[in-house]
Amino acid sequence: MARTLILNAGQLLTMAGPDAARRGREMSSVGLVRGGAVLVDDGQILAAGLHDIVLKHPTAGAAKILDAGGRVVLPGFVDSHAHPVFAAPRLTDFEARLKGATYQEIAAAGGGILSTVNGVRGAKQEKLASNLAHWAQRFIECGTTTLEAKSGYGLDLETELKMLRAVAAASAQTPLQFVPTLLGAHAVPPELKDRREDYLKRVCEEMIPAVARENLARFADVFCEQGFFSLEEAARVRESAARAGLGFKIHAEQLSRSGSVGMAVKGLAVSADHLDHVEAADIQALAGGQTVSCLVPGSNYFLNKAYPPARKLIDGGAAVALATDFNPGTCPCWDMRMILSIACTQMRMTPAEALVAATINGAWALGLGKSHGSLEPGKAADLVCYEAEDYREIPYYFGSTAVAWTMKRGAIAHSASGLKL
Ligand code: NIG
Ligand code: FE
Repeated sequence: MARTLILNAGQLLTMAGPDAARRGREMSSVGLVRGGAVLVDDGQILAAGLHDIVLKHPTAGAAKILDAGGRVVLPGFVDSHAHPVFAAPRLTDFEARLKGATYQEIAAAGGGILSTVNGVRGAKQEKLASNLAHWAQRFIECGTTTLEAKSGYGLDLETELKMLRAVAAASAQTPLQFVPTLLGAHAVPPELKDRREDYLKRVCEEMIPAVARENLARFADVFCEQGFFSLEEAARVRESAARAGLGFKIHAEQLSRSGSVGMAVKGLAVSADHLDHVEAADIQALAGGQTVSCLVPGSNYFLNKAYPPARKLIDGGAAVALATDFNPGTCPCWDMRMILSIACTQMRMTPAEALVAATINGAWALGLGKSHGSLEPGKAADLVCYEAEDYREIPYYFGSTAVAWTMKRGAIAHSASGLKL
């Protein structure tokens, strides 16, 4: 792969910093370099920083030049929470909610997650993979270079495996990098409605070991919520994941408070996600632990619900990540710019904090903090060049995206102007 020298970044946001998720005040530091350059080779960053310094790198002379034209260059977005494998949108649920039905009422009546389960069970693996590759292109056009891909719309061993195999197959069709997560514990399937213990056993004793054996997922996740899975059940999913060598993520305190944050932090969950209903003790636990607080305010926007307390989390010392939660039920949005805009205007995050949350902290929320999320030597050459002179424009303008180009592992994955290397 060609060695490339990216020159003339009006503002380069390196996100360089400590080798850990950024927390509290550290989240204000974007590693801003005015007049920056990045040297990449073989899919990795060799040097990033001030133009004159990068140019002194011994191999800079032989590189192809990519002129950023004075624009903003930053790490590609790492979207650490998404459910992008599904067959169809949920337009009927959408209308029902607009008429006053709640998300939980729709779910209890057999719509919601279960309607997507019906669609996914009936779809061929190839179709799920080609749908995902289609969405992947939309993400890349918006500057996302790494995306979590949860299962959770199968709710039986065969269909959960089909979803994760579709993620593996889609990887060959797109430059977007997926991080697969098993979400068998997303809901109790209709056929086991009155036998939830049987279903949980299947998740813990069959699905998690099978997925680990086939190396189909890196994490297991659970929807810990009234009407879905209890705190005790979530803890069993965590234990089973640990036994199988999978990391643990959790949908925590989304629609009500269950107290699952304490369990997640103690159990070294890589992230606790949503957090709409966290209380002071939860914030303290998150601030004192390694678990990243992953906020997905696009789902609050779409469900018209109060936002999670991002300010309290950051001011209390937590490490906050931002993700889309892309899914057909609570957030049909793939554009990280929209999420950044919501984070700033509705949760009072600063543009710098929001961008840290969507890059380096997103990487830590996926266990990829050592290799992704910042522009530092040895890390993946995943970058986005935004059509902006000042990084604050990224969350400031909203309603249409403005990515000049997206680079994944040193290759141009999308260019608005047809640029090729
Ligand atoms: O993150 N909360 C659970 N899971 C998703 C929604 C899934 C769906 O409605 O299809 C979420 O909001
Ligand atoms: Fe989710």
